[in-house]
Amino acid sequence: LSRKVEMTNWEKGNFINYKKMSENLAIVRARLNRPLTYAEKILYSHLDDPHGQEIERGKSYLKLRPDRVACQDATAQMAILQFMSAGLPKVATPTTVHCDHLIEAQVGGAKDLARAEEINKEVYDFLSTACAKYDIGFWKPGSGIIHQIILENYAFPGGLLIGTDSHTPNAGGLGMCAIGVGGADAVDVMANLPWELKAPKIIGVKLTGQLSGWTSPKDIILKVAGILTVKGGTGAIVEYHGPGVDNLSSTGMGTICNMGAEIGATTSVFPFNDRMYDYLAATKRKDIGDFARTYAKELREDQGAEYDELIELDLSTLEPHINGPFTPDLATPISKFKDAVEENGWPAELKVGLIGSCTNSSYEDMSRSASIARDALNHGIKAKSVYTVTPGSEQIRATIERDGQLQTFEEFGGIVLANACGPCIGQWDRRDVKKGEPNSIISSYNRNFTGRNDANPATHAFVTSPDLVTAMTIAGDLRFNPLTDKLKDKDGNEFMLAPPTGAGLPERGYDPGRDTYQAPPADRASVQVQVSPSSDRLQVLSPFKPWDGKDAKGIPILIKCKGKTTTDHISMAGPWLKYRGHLDNISNNMLIGATNAENDQANSVKNFITGEYDAVPATARDYKARNIPWVVIGDWNYGEGSSREHAALEPRHLGGLAIITRSFARIHETNLKKQGMLPLVFENPADYDKINPDDKVDLFITDLAVGKPMRIRFHPKNGSPWETNLIHTFNEGQIEWFKNGSALNTMAKAQRS
Ligand code: F3S
Repeated sequence: LSRKVEMTNWEKGNFINYKKMSENLAIVRARLNRPLTYAEKILYSHLDDPHGQEIERGKSYLKLRPDRVACQDATAQMAILQFMSAGLPKVATPTTVHCDHLIEAQVGGAKDLARAEEINKEVYDFLSTACAKYDIGFWKPGSGIIHQIILENYAFPGGLLIGTDSHTPNAGGLGMCAIGVGGADAVDVMANLPWELKAPKIIGVKLTGQLSGWTSPKDIILKVAGILTVKGGTGAIVEYHGPGVDNLSSTGMGTICNMGAEIGATTSVFPFNDRMYDYLAATKRKDIGDFARTYAKELREDQGAEYDELIELDLSTLEPHINGPFTPDLATPISKFKDAVEENGWPAELKVGLIGSCTNSSYEDMSRSASIARDALNHGIKAKSVYTVTPGSEQIRATIERDGQLQTFEEFGGIVLANACGPCIGQWDRRDVKKGEPNSIISSYNRNFTGRNDANPATHAFVTSPDLVTAMTIAGDLRFNPLTDKLKDKDGNEFMLAPPTGAGLPERGYDPGRDTYQAPPADRASVQVQVSPSSDRLQVLSPFKPWDGKDAKGIPILIKCKGKTTTDHISMAGPWLKYRGHLDNISNNMLIGATNAENDQANSVKNFITGEYDAVPATARDYKARNIPWVVIGDWNYGEGSSREHAALEPRHLGGLAIITRSFARIHETNLKKQGMLPLVFENPADYDKINPDDKVDLFITDLAVGKPMRIRFHPKNGSPWETNLIHTFNEGQIEWFKNGSALNTMAKAQRS
């Protein structure tokens, strides 16, 4: 176990540390004295303090030391800007950045890529120079989708990865525990802070039997999503096991783990097996496969490991599934789908079929779809619907170009898009239907929420395997079932499509294609990070000011929010995503979606100085300009939704001091602390009702101490002042964050001393 094996072929000196992992595990084992699941083994072997860490599934907060960090280009911008503001010379944990989210699908691969390079030039220039400066591997636009690149180059069995994208769990296809996080978490790990995760519960999925015919790995997760629903995996890791596992390809397992994000799971993982070994060998990492074999005992569950919940699936009887529309957990087996389409009045005509994305763009996926397309071509027919293909990586694209699948798709009428997210993230200049026109599309992607792909709320988006997407585009009709229904060939003779076939791995090995990787240079000191001062998309961050050590007296309530205030209400997405790297510009969306309790309106609050109603951000800016800090009053579960760090950065940037609520969503609460804000909760939730939006507030910040309440006094306009208690969850370290102005300031201070 003390051999030296590099984590990846792209870096030198970052070794896989199975020795340390097994030592940590031995310590935890001696303490827990029970069989462990595989997911637990990965997590516990990465504990910051295996001796002292409290471990209870579903309860404790684990402090972990991930092996790697991965960021996509949309989320990397703010993460790196924040990292820069700490003033550290390089990342402490191996990190990569992947340019995949900003390429709009319009006409096809090469042209769309060239257009994106022009439109996003300043973002790409910033990312590439910042990566060079801070020792981060940079995957250029056109290299492929983050999760595919990670699987091909960086994932390894037993490893722990965090990624600033929800579908990071894809790397579970190589036995890695890979978890999607917000930018703030990534920054912590880049800056050498341990990363905190609530010890997940473990849901076991036992697979028996074997897939055949039209059923593919995607159908496993489509079925599981139907069983667990979009909430069923929350706070849990889904751990697959059982004899059925060994017949799945590594990339197929990746598909299953990838879409586990749709059931809210922390991540999903498969045990190390020979299929993973084969994939490692095929992607030039046989040494990692051999090394993993020496540690194999710890790369699977212990005998007798107990799951918090257990699901059993027999793959031999599993039918192909189609999930949707509008939600990924509405699962319908193909045999019932025609009836479902008719009963629900879903538009039966299939307008567009889309294959690829990070979920389903392996060599196997492409080969199987190409076999179906070829079958149709052999009968003289092509796709009736529009058909698009997004290869997951340049390597996949080059390999299917060499091996002929790509030509088959084109002959079939397909449009091969850039190696990027494209329509999956709404980067799709769709022109075949008008906005508001009801229509159906089907994809091999993972998410199908309203408007996600084409911003048309009337589009019924379904997700399924690439096999069914391809078959359905031939019929051009959602009611088509390739297992039972006939098609007509060019002469009008009936025929049935043969079930798809395709190799899991390319016989002749992968063709790497164009070189799209930029390694950090040896001389990083002379690299200048490029941020144009006139840019409206990027802005260098200055560190936030430390606390002045005083209580706050007579400060205003910017807004008293009523009801649901999610991170979308606090920092809206959509068109604002463009400004993710520009804190001042994106702050113009702060809380514009929240409902003002005073007038039941969104984005209209009274400025206590001018007496005028104005937008929330404009009012906050006015207070900031006058040096008046402010607070927000929030309802239950404030900040639920995503881990978006902008929702915490914006109020801090616009001069907010405290967010006072009936309760918080935990991730947002932590994000606020990281940015040097005070997330506080009414000791008595009924106090919320007693507050008038135009009350003035005294906040006794000097009370701040672990486990102690903080006093607050309200001064109503008409009435006598009253005082109450706020509680909080600050620990010692987090109090330092507040005092220093932010977690990053605290890191930078530690580094300097
Ligand atoms: Fe990209 Fe869609 Fe995956 S946005 S990372 S292809 S889920």
